[in-house]
This record gives sequence, structure tokens and C-alpha cells, in this order.
Amino acid sequence: MTLVSDDTAGRDVGPRIGVWALEEGAFGSPHHPDDPHDASWERIKGQVLLAEELGFDSTLIAQLFISPWGEEYDQGEAWSLAAALAALTERIEIIAAIKPYAYPPAIAAKMALQIEEISKGRFAINFVNGWFVLEARRLGLQFYEHDERYDYGREWITIVRELLAGRPSTFDGRWFRTDGYVPRPASRWRERPRIYAGGESPPARALVADTVDTWFMNGQPIERVAQLIEDVRARPRVGPPVTFGLSAFVIARETDEEADEAHREAWEIGKSDAAEQAWLAAQVDPRVQMFQTYARYPHIGSNGGTAAGLVGSYDTVAERIRAFHELGIELFMLQFQPFEDEMRRFAEHVMPRVRATSVSA
Ligand SMILES: Cc1cc2nc3c(=O)[nH]c(=O)nc-3n(C[C@H](O)[C@H](O)[C@H](O)COP(=O)(O)O)c2cc1C
Repeated sequence: MTLVSDDTAGRDVGPRIGVWALEEGAFGSPHHPDDPHDASWERIKGQVLLAEELGFDSTLIAQLFISPWGEEYDQGEAWSLAAALAALTERIEIIAAIKPYAYPPAIAAKMALQIEEISKGRFAINFVNGWFVLEARRLGLQFYEHDERYDYGREWITIVRELLAGRPSTFDGRWFRTDGYVPRPASRWRERPRIYAGGESPPARALVADTVDTWFMNGQPIERVAQLIEDVRARPRVGPPVTFGLSAFVIARETDEEADEAHREAWEIGKSDAAEQAWLAAQVDPRVQMFQTYARYPHIGSNGGTAAGLVGSYDTVAERIRAFHELGIELFMLQFQPFEDEMRRFAEHVMPRVRATSVSA
């Protein structure tokens, strides 16, 4: 299974670049005058098909059953979106997030292998332990205390890993039991779908080192990303090394000054989200590391967003992507606003610069 972005001669062909799917209707502000909240299927379908056409390599569909903007907002459902998008696309990787307490592991593995089949080997899961206390309560999901969620997740992922590879699972743990289940068909294209995970706390990092292919990090300054990569690389591991992904919200313009101005405007627009932000803050499990990181680095977008520093001229943004890639970031998962227009701009102006610097690297 190829897990790094090297070509067959072992040369670095640069990072893969993906976009977050719009299952939550907007990244940035749901009140943006040119990009109001819209989580409809038609919109998401158009966005992901456009991403594929523009040359993006991957799309990540977050799993939320209630909108993070508030209970009255529409919210897409990750796995049914993933299956539909798998059928409509041809090349782009489709990653669906999954909360281990939402589905028993054998059911999740079976669903994943079905989407692997529909997509002809382009499906991946993103293990996320969640933070959304109200969501778990409303749906009646078991939401253990923070570190216990990782113990639970470790059992869950141990079973899922075996089943994704088409191997039989017989497991007798604290939470789960399987008895010789063998999902069929297994992947016809590779050993198994890739396993990503998002989560920053020490138990998340331990789980990543033990069981995950690619660790997704929240957008944050490069020095901090370097420390996190070092931490995970230093942990004991069996099998191929962990690879790394980074979430980021991009504001790219012809010049740094223009990008700074667009950044200021985005903060202005964000002032109309005070009610949504206050509501969201009240829903968060305070032990979740991710929100502690957020508090340190104010940003636009979800999952660290602009804190990754991809704000600047086309050259600046390409240069920063290259610097992250040199540290080990293999996949960038990007957000924009207005999404489709800014994604087009990125594909036209930044993507070729990233590719050019990679070839000469
Ligand atoms: C790239 C990325 C994607 C994520 N996607 C989701 C998601 O789809 N749904 C969700 O509830 N949380 C998502 N999260 C948040 C994780 O659930 C959160 O970081 C973790 O549960 C709590 O962990 P921590 O204390 O280990 O950081 C994501 C995190 C990252 C970095």
C-alpha cells in the first residue's frame, strides 16, 4: 500500500492537496454575504465534482449529526454522502470521518468496504473521537470520559483494521465481541482502505502511533506542527512509518497586502457569528485538546484554519506549503470562503506553484 507521495523512482512528487467537503454548509462564517450556509446535497455534489475536475487529490467529509453552527442549521450525513460521491467521482480520494461510538466496529468495516468497492479503491476512514457533548446526548450515544473514549476507540480500531484488510475478526474485549466475522468482498484494489485519525491529546497520539496510517493535525504554526510530528515519530511503532496530514484555511491573493486585507475582511464578517461561536463553545468537552489549541491560536475556519499561516500571496502560500511538506506533511486538507471561487483561485494560482517547487526540489 502506497502511503507516501513518492513516485515509483522514490522521488518526492510533492504533497497531495485535498478539500473539506461542505457537509456543514460553510467554513469561515455561515453569514458570509457571498457564501451563505448551504449544506444541501446539490451543493456538496457540485463542490466535490469541481474539486476533482480542478485536480484536487482528496476530500474529507466530517462526521457531525448536528451542525456545529447550531441545532437549527442543516447538516449533511458523512457516510451516505461518501457513498454517493464515490459513485459520482472517478479519481479523488474520499475520506469519511467516523466516531467509534456511533457504529459497532464490524458494521463500520463492512460499510467502509462497500464504499471501497463503489469507489474502486479510493475510500478511507478518519477516526475522530469527538468533542460534541450535546450531540452525543441528543442521539443517545455513549460518550465516555476523554481518555476512556480512547481506550474504547483502541478496541474499536483494532477490530476495524483487521476487517478492512478482509481478515477474520475474533475479539473478546471490554466493549466489543466478534466471532469469526469475515467481510466480503475485501478491497479488490489494495491491502485495505487507509486509516486516518484526527485528535491531538497524548492518548490520541499513542493511538495514532500504534494503529493509524496518517495523522491529521489541526492547522497551527509550523514550529508547533514540527514538535507534534517529532513526538509521534519518536513513539514505538510496528509497520510503515506514520504519515501526516494538515488542515488549513487558505486566503491567497496576488500580493501579501491583498491577502492581509481579505483576511481582515473575513474577521469583520466573522463578527456576525458571535451567537454561533458562543453556542459552540458551550458544547465542547473541556478535556478535548483540540479546543485548547484553538484558544492559543485565534483563527478563521474549523480545525485550526488560518492558524496554519496559509494566508498571503500565491508565492507565499506555495512556499509555506512546501515548508510544511519538507517537515513531513503529505496531505493538506483545505478550506476556503466563498468555497468554490477560492478553491478555483487556489487551483489556478497556488497549485501550479506548489507542483513546480516540488519538481525542482
Ligand atoms: C483533521 C481533523 C478532522 C476532524 N474531524 C472531525 C469530525 O469529523 N467530527 C468530529 O466530531 N471531530 C472531528 N475532529 C476533532 C476530533 O474529534 C478531536 O480532535 C478529538 O476528538 C478530540 O480529541 P483530542 O483531545 O485528542 O484532541 C477532527 C480533527 C481533525 C484534526
